[in-house]
Parts: sequence; C-alpha cells; structure tokens
Amino acid sequence: MEDKRKNIAIITGASSGIGESFVKYVAEDKGLFGGSPLEEIWIVARRESRLLELKEKLSDDRIRVVPCDLSSSVDKIEDLLKQEDPRIGLLINCAGLGKKGPVADRPAGDLEDTLDLNCTGLSVLTRICLPYMISRTSPFSRKDGPRIINIASSAAFLPQPGFASYAASKSFVVSFSRALDMELRPQGIAVTTVCPGPVRTEFEQLATDGKSKDFTGFRKYVSADPGKLAKASLRASKAGRHMFVYGISQKALHLVSKIVPSYWIIRMEGAALNKAGNEGETAK
Ligand SMILES: NC(=O)c1ccc[n+]([C@@H]2O[C@H](COP(=O)([O-])OP(=O)(O)OC[C@H]3O[C@@H](n4cnc5c(N)ncnc54)[C@H](OP(=O)(O)O)[C@@H]3O)[C@@H](O)[C@H]2O)c1
Repeated sequence: MEDKRKNIAIITGASSGIGESFVKYVAEDKGLFGGSPLEEIWIVARRESRLLELKEKLSDDRIRVVPCDLSSSVDKIEDLLKQEDPRIGLLINCAGLGKKGPVADRPAGDLEDTLDLNCTGLSVLTRICLPYMISRTSPFSRKDGPRIINIASSAAFLPQPGFASYAASKSFVVSFSRALDMELRPQGIAVTTVCPGPVRTEFEQLATDGKSKDFTGFRKYVSADPGKLAKASLRASKAGRHMFVYGISQKALHLVSKIVPSYWIIRMEGAALNKAGNEGETAK
C-alpha cells in the first residue's frame, strides 16, 4: 500500500554557518531521501527572524520554520512530529556551540550549555526522529535509505586543553553516531559523522565571546568554506560514508592522533595554553 505520509528533512543549526548552507544545498537537491523526494524541509534554530529570512531568500515553499531551543527541550519538535506524522528522509544535526578558555575560567553554565546542546540535544532529537525514519529500500543499501548527518569536529580526535568541554562533547558525537550507524544498518538507515576543522562561520566569534572574529595563524590557512563543507558532506552521506573527515589538514591530524601517543600531543597543547596564559598575565 502506498505510504501517503509527507517525506521531510529536519536541519538544525539552520540560522547560520554550516547549517544554513545545508538548507541551501538540500533545497537544491531534487534527489531521493529515504526513497522519495523531500516534500518539506524543517529548519530549526532559536533565531526565528534568521530562519524566516532564509526561507524568503531561498523562496522554497517546502521550507518550514521551526524555532526551538534544543538545549532546553526537544518537546516542541516531538509534538510537531506526533501531530504531522511524517516520514523523515533526512536529519542533519548541525546545531552546536563551544566556549574557549580553561575550565576554571569559564562559568559552570557554559559547560552545561555545551553538553545540553552538543550531546543531549543531538542524541535526544535523533532518538525521537527514529520512529519516523522508515526505509522503503533494501536494508542492504545504505545509499538510498533515510539518512542522518551528525556534525562533530576534528576537536573530537583528542582532548583539547583550553577547549575541553567542546572537544569532549564532539568525542561524544563521534562515538554515539558511529555506534548508532551500526545499530541502524539492518533498517537501511545510514549515519554519517562529519569532522571538519576550522570553518568560517560565526562559531569562532561566539566561542571567544567576541574577542576574535576570524581564525588566526595556521588555522586561518586551513579554514574551510561552510558551503563547500555542506555540499561535500551531503555527497559523503549519499555515498554511504559512516565517517567523513573534511580537508587534507584534518585528515592528516586524524592520522597523527591515531599514531602519536595522545599524551604527548595533549602535553604540548597544555604547555602552549599555559605559556599564552602566562604571557597574558605579564602583559596586564
Ligand atoms: N565553525 C567551525 O570552526 C566548526 C568546526 C568544526 C565543527 N563545527 C560544528 O559545526 C556546527 C555548526 O557550527 P557553525 O560553524 O555553523 O556555527 P554557527 O554559525 O555559530 O551556527 C551554530 C548554529 O547552532 C544554532 N544553535 C546554537 N545554540 C542553539 C540552541 N540552544 N538551540 C538551537 N539551535 C542552536 C545557532 O542558531 P541560533 O543561535 O539561532 O539558535 C546556529 O544556527 C556546530 O555543531 C559546530 O560545533 C564548527
């Protein structure tokens, strides 16, 4: 019997940066997600005005604005799913945040916000979406079934002194997503974990409380364009990739993190952080 339910995509973090680029490329893509074309694209973030602007800019009637603070609760999306009973062909978990600085220098609330959004929000939203992800294709084909794209980071590869809670939260995303991918294989649902390095978005400005707008030093040279990253991630998901490390420099970092004892690298990072801290103290 024909399934008359609407086939939708849900994209979080859609009000800026990588998430906004995902909306653009998903809207352009007339291909199949979960066996049929997308009939609605739900775009999620807190800033409703930005989401409305994006909908207007793309002038795509399929876009539906869903303002929601994912760090406090996903109930709003759960209620909407129960009410509409759609099929979900694509879920992109892109919303995320990080706050730079040693743990002792950050308010405890920053730790909570980071974990609530990057870990709890992502995993609980994924969980409530699963009953709506139904493969119409062979369970042996990862390429045509419903898909999940989870945005982690190369920060997940190693603990990061000076960005500890963020790096740990992204390690959670990698671990959770890779395990979930295996759990969902028999149902033909593919989970792609994306690990980019620095990307030119509002992220750095928010992470440094407005102190630095752009990346500096080496990170500036390896920083990626959000549009190119989103496009390549969609391609990787369609190819059935379970893990997608974006860019040569981040692939090299991934390799190094596997072969060099992690303690050495963390110690070097810690020494650099303490040196920068001491220089700051002297300059005051
Ligand atoms: N930029 C980088 O260098 C980089 C590198 C590796 C990985 N990443 C990851 O890429 C993802 C996207 O980041 P981005 O670079 O595009 O940064 P961004 O421009 O700051 O975008 C972050 C998005 O998350 C949303 N968001 C933040 N808090 C939220 C909340 N409580 N509830 C719902 N939505 C929330 C923001 O929307 P509202 O503020 O409107 O809610 C915004 O749409 C994140 O997961 C980030 O960790 C970024």
